[in-house]
Amino acid sequence: MTPVHPDPNPDPIDVSSWPDAATWSAILAPLHAPDHLTADLARRLGAAGLAERERVATAASGLAGLLVRPGEPLARTGEVAATLAAWRARWAHPDQLGHGVTPLAALALQLPAVLGEWRAWGIEAEIIDATCDDLGRQVHLHERVYGEAGCENFHWVANGIFLPMFVLGRLQWALEQSDATVAGYPPEVRQPGGAVLACHIPESGPLEVAAVDQSVALAAEFFPRVFGASPCYATCFSWLLNPLLISRLPGTNLAEFARRWTLCGDPVEATHDAVYFAFRVRPPYDVETLESRSRLHDLVMECARSDGWAARNGYFLLSD
Ligand SMILES: CC(C)(COP(=O)(O)OP(=O)(O)OC[C@H]1O[C@@H](n2cnc3c(N)ncnc32)[C@H](O)[C@@H]1OP(=O)(O)O)[C@@H](O)C(=O)NCCC(=O)NCCS
Repeated sequence: MTPVHPDPNPDPIDVSSWPDAATWSAILAPLHAPDHLTADLARRLGAAGLAERERVATAASGLAGLLVRPGEPLARTGEVAATLAAWRARWAHPDQLGHGVTPLAALALQLPAVLGEWRAWGIEAEIIDATCDDLGRQVHLHERVYGEAGCENFHWVANGIFLPMFVLGRLQWALEQSDATVAGYPPEVRQPGGAVLACHIPESGPLEVAAVDQSVALAAEFFPRVFGASPCYATCFSWLLNPLLISRLPGTNLAEFARRWTLCGDPVEATHDAVYFAFRVRPPYDVETLESRSRLHDLVMECARSDGWAARNGYFLLSD
């Protein structure tokens, strides 16, 4: 398919005619962050000195041309993911603007062109809205973890903009090449270049069984329609696939979600991930000072004090 728009702006910003705070508010608005955080980030960006302006411009130009479009070979998702991982390493350190603000501003500058393409591909407004909600959720999360505006997870936001990754109902789905390094996937998943739908779980309310069923059905319809790809399998790598959730929290949404997946590959040590997702704290932390407010908290604390928590890979057949 021929691109319907030029690449997201390769020379996105002129540091000598820098946007003021009001203009930055408008630039950041499509990220769907809470208003008070957008205002705080816009104020910082509007007051940026020349060095920070140049950093934002450099970060933004590193993103030019990354958007994965319908009809492109699936291998490009892997290439773009690798480029974004290198870009993440480049921008990981906080600067004068704060934690993750420089790369977030760079992402926001790219967003209008990307949103234009999504619309031109026929993606419905509610899917675009829900996908942007997940971008803003990461900004909100930063405040919950660190108590201020920022975006530690700017890399996740970048994945959600440039890769074929959309929030479809309750879950977020990414069209990607299967990970051939995971042992135990069925042959269709393991074959080089095999397409899969990788499932991610946004923190957007309960994980009810019916909502998960509906999201699976939406994903199975969306990617063939928009991207012309028909993966047979859903895959997931998450702390939420730990089988302890099935044995220790029977009958819960978490147990029913974990039960969907056929596990494969080796357990992967993920205690810090479990503590982060359950308590929203980053290391260093003291398990004894975490406050349990649920059975999941109890379980995560128990594991953190003993053998740790394992994340797992899993898959299921989409047509089941
Ligand atoms: C996945 C998620 C939506 C499940 O929520 P849910 O549907 O409300 O979960 P359940 O109803 O099955 O909850 C079962 C128990 O675990 C608790 N629980 C569920 N998620 C919890 C969380 N994130 N933190 C603390 N406790 C949690 C519930 O309170 C309940 O315990 P209780 O009966 O003692 O109150 C929720 O855990 C979440 O938002 N997690 C963060 C996102 C995430 O981890 N993504 C995966 C990244 S790899």
